Amino acid sequence: MDIALDLGTANSRLRVNNQQNAIDQPSVIAYNKDNNEILAVGAEAYQMLGRTSAKINVVFPLEGGVIAESGLVEEMVNIFMAEVCTSRVVMPRVVACIPGEITEVEKRAIVGAISSFGVRRVLLIEAAKAAAFGSGMDIMGPHGCMVVDMGAGTIDIAVMSLGGMSVSKTIKTAGNTMDEEIIKYVRRKHGLIIGKAMATSCKEAIACVIPPESELTFRLKGRDSLRGLPRAMEVNSTEIAEAIGDISATILNAIMDVIEDTPPELLGDVQMDGIMLTGGLSQIKGMKELIEKETGITVHVAENPADSVVAGCFEATKFIEEAESQRANLNPLMTVY
Ligand SMILES: Nc1ncnc2c1ncn2[C@@H]1O[C@H](COP(=O)(O)OP(=O)(O)OP(=O)(O)O)[C@@H](O)[C@H]1O
Ligand SMILES: [Mg+2]
Repeated sequence: MDIALDLGTANSRLRVNNQQNAIDQPSVIAYNKDNNEILAVGAEAYQMLGRTSAKINVVFPLEGGVIAESGLVEEMVNIFMAEVCTSRVVMPRVVACIPGEITEVEKRAIVGAISSFGVRRVLLIEAAKAAAFGSGMDIMGPHGCMVVDMGAGTIDIAVMSLGGMSVSKTIKTAGNTMDEEIIKYVRRKHGLIIGKAMATSCKEAIACVIPPESELTFRLKGRDSLRGLPRAMEVNSTEIAEAIGDISATILNAIMDVIEDTPPELLGDVQMDGIMLTGGLSQIKGMKELIEKETGITVHVAENPADSVVAGCFEATKFIEEAESQRANLNPLMTVY
């Protein structure tokens, strides 16, 4: 049995090759602080976010695509894997994605968390490569293709050819940073304190990275910073666009940096095929238009952008045998553990 695993900062996704089982759940875990008992994971734990008692902690144990709290990531991965792994007769092989810029220690922590389930093999693939694979690009040929995977904790930008990375860059200014900026802005401008889940919902509903064509509004509920009492108010897209303006600029600059470093032949290919956007954040209003306007290159958003990476990990399971035997020289999978 082979499992494709996208352990994301905000969402974990798993796909299994020989059956229909799949998981799409927030990367959240709730536990009792007194005895460390796990109370909930995924969507159920997400519901508890900001609503717990003093005894219960609810955390996203991954940060910027790497492990922030290892014991909790291990627990979470084990629960998710057990759900898709109905038979324990054969130990599964796992293809998991990692951010482009990651240290050896961080890499081993991810492999360690996955291995704790009892697996035959763990194979890693860079998120951008998986994203390209999963969005239907041919990265194995002698042709340049560019992908920007936009998640909650990282943005992975890469130009690839012949199954390898030619130019790449990872930044940790992504969806979560936008949420933080929205929280700060609303407090500063309106004296309203809101939680992380409220900020995320607001961003997904009305945020726009270019001046919005039509004004949308979102009703925020939180606490008045002066009086300490509950208060609700409406914000509009123009305000939220202002709150996240610097973040969009940072993302755009990183994309420009990669384009500038791309060898001319590959850049010609990218100019012809366009840039592919994947990841949940690629759905933010105006992102495609902003990148097209600033780069002059056509931009496509993948069909199911949030699923591209796990779909790519799944595609890559076809290369496991070759990677294990180290036969083929053109293999998208990196390290075998
Ligand atoms: N419609 C939308 N508009 C704006 N943002 C969105 C939308 N849908 C999802 N997002 C944002 O996309 C991010 C989640 O994307 P994704 O699931 O690809 O991240 P991840 O894989 O968990 O994170 P990472 O790859 O950084 O580790 C969140 O910040 C979420 O708020
Ligand atoms: Mg991701």
